[in-house]
Amino acid sequence: MTRSLRPLFQRLGLMCPCKQTGEGRVARVHSSQKENPRDSQHASLYIHWPYCLKRCSYCNFNKYIPRSVDNKVMTECLQQETQTLLQLSRVSQISSVFFGGGTPSLAQASTIAAVLETVSAHTRLCDHAEVTLEVNPASAGRTALPDFLSAGVNRFSVGVQSLNDASLRVLGRDHDPVQALQTLAEARTLCPGRVSVDVMFGIPGQSVASWESELEEVLRVCDDHVSLYQLTLERGTHLYKQVQLGEVRMPADDVTASMYRSARKILEQAGFLQYEVSNFARQNAVSTHNLGYWRAQPYIGVGPGAHGRFVPRALGVAHREARTQTLEPDVWIKEVQQHGHATRRRIQLNHLSLLEEVLVMGLRMTEGISHQHWAAFSPETDLHQVLGASADVQDLQQRGILILDDRGLRCSWEGLAFLDSILPVLLLELDTFFHTHRPEDGQREQ
Ligand SMILES: C[S@@+](CC[C@H](N)C(=O)[O-])C[C@H]1O[C@@H](n2cnc3c(N)ncnc32)[C@H](O)[C@@H]1O
Ligand code: SF4
Repeated sequence: MTRSLRPLFQRLGLMCPCKQTGEGRVARVHSSQKENPRDSQHASLYIHWPYCLKRCSYCNFNKYIPRSVDNKVMTECLQQETQTLLQLSRVSQISSVFFGGGTPSLAQASTIAAVLETVSAHTRLCDHAEVTLEVNPASAGRTALPDFLSAGVNRFSVGVQSLNDASLRVLGRDHDPVQALQTLAEARTLCPGRVSVDVMFGIPGQSVASWESELEEVLRVCDDHVSLYQLTLERGTHLYKQVQLGEVRMPADDVTASMYRSARKILEQAGFLQYEVSNFARQNAVSTHNLGYWRAQPYIGVGPGAHGRFVPRALGVAHREARTQTLEPDVWIKEVQQHGHATRRRIQLNHLSLLEEVLVMGLRMTEGISHQHWAAFSPETDLHQVLGASADVQDLQQRGILILDDRGLRCSWEGLAFLDSILPVLLLELDTFFHTHRPEDGQREQ
């Protein structure tokens, strides 16, 4: 599910949800698409804190385990890059801020406050902007959660991952279930109704039954938002080596598929509405920041390896650009100190790239892509014209996993579990349509 879509996200230069890495060179794509400048004035802001205390066995995110961190320099650089990118963009209003990592709960609360002050000084930070901080249970005790609240955070996303001791050991986490429960309880006291938990399934040693009872336990203690991630085996991680050496076995695909299916049912019975492949909310406690990504809204990415997609001020016409910041924190710091920002890669997005983003991100949501949403990006060609005549798309519809109707395009309940195989078919159709009917919009130049 989510994580196995990573190669597709990378090919399209999209930010995989909770994924903020990248590298590369400057590339350029011609465009004939003019983005409505009004749309590009609202954006969300992602801030990457790249440090962790310990490397988890499965994680290949852009994170570093430093001997020490110069908090003053990191704060100055995050502020500087925030200011520069805001000034380089047409963004006049920030609707949400997400501090992700790495382990941003290792940052000092004063760093969070300073970044938010910079945002307010250089643009309008919406009055009720969602400001999320990812919290690791073990590190949460270092800076007290109330201090983050005073700094301006109003939503916590707690990396519980599992409430099973053995699973936490396999994952190489540096906390136990008791610490996770304590952190969760404290976060809920501070931000009632605005706490999310990250939980993983498909962990070696986990069975469908043990996963179900673990999830029931999570539901007894969680707030109104749950993110479910299937553990993905990433090259270069310790877990990958263990699996290669036969020391550890990943659950079979049919087992993880059952885990996903039963989790969706259990969450639904507990009153949670699934609004995205991996995300479930009660009382409408959806993450507005992540909804922005799925609705292909512009966002600015600050910090080592962060991704952004926004319209720069400097260009004469309103073209959205994809930007990736330098990965390695020490190099990133030097570049920010020298140039005010550390953008390593910029790609000017053409009309086709933007529509690929709308498709790939939009179909992750249970609501899918309405005709109005599509028309905001593609007024000239509607979804029926682009996809309706395709035999492959009709086949997906006949199999009951894809729906294209008066509302728009979306996956069925069953289909959401097959998004990985649906998207390549749709992307191919979109590419073919553009190269046949609108070749000027689909040109790429590297
Ligand atoms: C990179 S972490 C950052 C937050 C924090 N450091 C933590 O670990 O809780 C964000 C989320 O990504 C998910 N994640 C990371 N690597 C993953 C993998 N290989 N497979 C599935 N989920 C993963 C975890 O659930 C984690 O909570
Ligand atoms: S704490 Fe989070 S970011 Fe750091 S290594 Fe573990 S999963 Fe990765």
